[in-house]
Amino acid sequence: MRLAGKKIVLGMTGGIACYKIAELTRMLGKAGADVQVVMTQAATQFITPVTMQALSGNTVFADQWDTRIPNNMPHIDLTRDADAIVIAPCSTDFMSKLAHGACDDLLSTLCIARPSGIPLLIAPAMNVEMWQNAATQRNATLIKADGIQMMGPVSGEQACGETGMGRMLEPDQLFSEIVATFQKKSLTGKQILITAGPTFEPIDPVRGITNLSSGKMGYAIAQAAWEAGAQVTLVSGPTALSAPYGVRRIHVQTAQQMHDAVMTQLQIQNPQVFIAVAAVADWRVANASDQKLKKTSESNTPQLKFIQNPDILALVAALPNAPYCVGFAAESENLLQYGAAKRVKKNIPLLVGNIGHHTFGKEDNELVLFDANGYVQLPRADKQTLAIQLIDELAQRLVSA
Ligand code: C5P
Repeated sequence: MRLAGKKIVLGMTGGIACYKIAELTRMLGKAGADVQVVMTQAATQFITPVTMQALSGNTVFADQWDTRIPNNMPHIDLTRDADAIVIAPCSTDFMSKLAHGACDDLLSTLCIARPSGIPLLIAPAMNVEMWQNAATQRNATLIKADGIQMMGPVSGEQACGETGMGRMLEPDQLFSEIVATFQKKSLTGKQILITAGPTFEPIDPVRGITNLSSGKMGYAIAQAAWEAGAQVTLVSGPTALSAPYGVRRIHVQTAQQMHDAVMTQLQIQNPQVFIAVAAVADWRVANASDQKLKKTSESNTPQLKFIQNPDILALVAALPNAPYCVGFAAESENLLQYGAAKRVKKNIPLLVGNIGHHTFGKEDNELVLFDANGYVQLPRADKQTLAIQLIDELAQRLVSA
């Protein structure tokens, strides 16, 4: 329930992308938001107010002179208790109205009349030529300068059959942007490099050794860091998870590949923070076969030999000008004792401990944060909640580091 208690005024303007806003409305409602839909007359040509009322559970407003509001001032009353106004889809025409302060219908008047503290987010959706038109680009510059947040557009296939910039973000991407609006921007301007997931160490071309890490904790931390305003790169071992919106993901398989990708990204990006969440295999098979090992008789059991993988976190922490390093420790017992000792051994400022077999693959977790001053416990919660708390704790330590 990422949006529990939030009231969102969802303004819809004329565009074929209106059909996608039905889905967004459901997502916002499921996340706990109270959604108040306001439509322009053009929007009602694309999807009916009946549909939007049924999905939002609230009466839809489309007319400035609507007598259902007791004082007949819907442009004032609808936003006074709002936490955000989202215009999706936002047409070329409506961008022009926002840029120039027009107020000739309910939605544009409501935007002008909004209290200054309420964030206004727009999701432009239009044909590529309309987007590239000099007038639209001028309007986009004015809109941004006024502090209105643009969500997209992106380049892609368009309803008209053409391809290019102007396509609206997908509903789940808009949802991520809206959720992020309400997060504390404690990591704005920071580059963060994160490892996540298991590694896979081949035995032969079809077999390998891996572990039970699902990647959920690392992915949740990557998402929370992006929501807090950071630019995030995620170096991920094999997982079934989609990349969190806004996060750049690099796929790797083995510990050595993860090491190489991390070292390359350190060079390219010079991140301020490195968070090693991945469950990296300590050893790889030294005598891995190029061909599938065959069971030719009852007695030909393969004899695997192992060599140690590089300790990515320890190597990064030992670099001159190392980023602020955060490590994870998955222990099976004695977490308080082992966690504190591991932080010192790895020579890192912050280590996050958890009980490995209580968390691998699960939706929730509990964490203990070890730093030079002792430890702080984050009680059991879902991984997203813990990730947000961890990012908050990290941001505080970066300020004092
Ligand atoms: O020593 P241990 O494997 O318990 O340390 C765990 C921490 O070190 C985690 O942050 C993990 O991502 C990181 N690690 C690593 N490279 C390895 C092994 C662990 O970065 N080869």
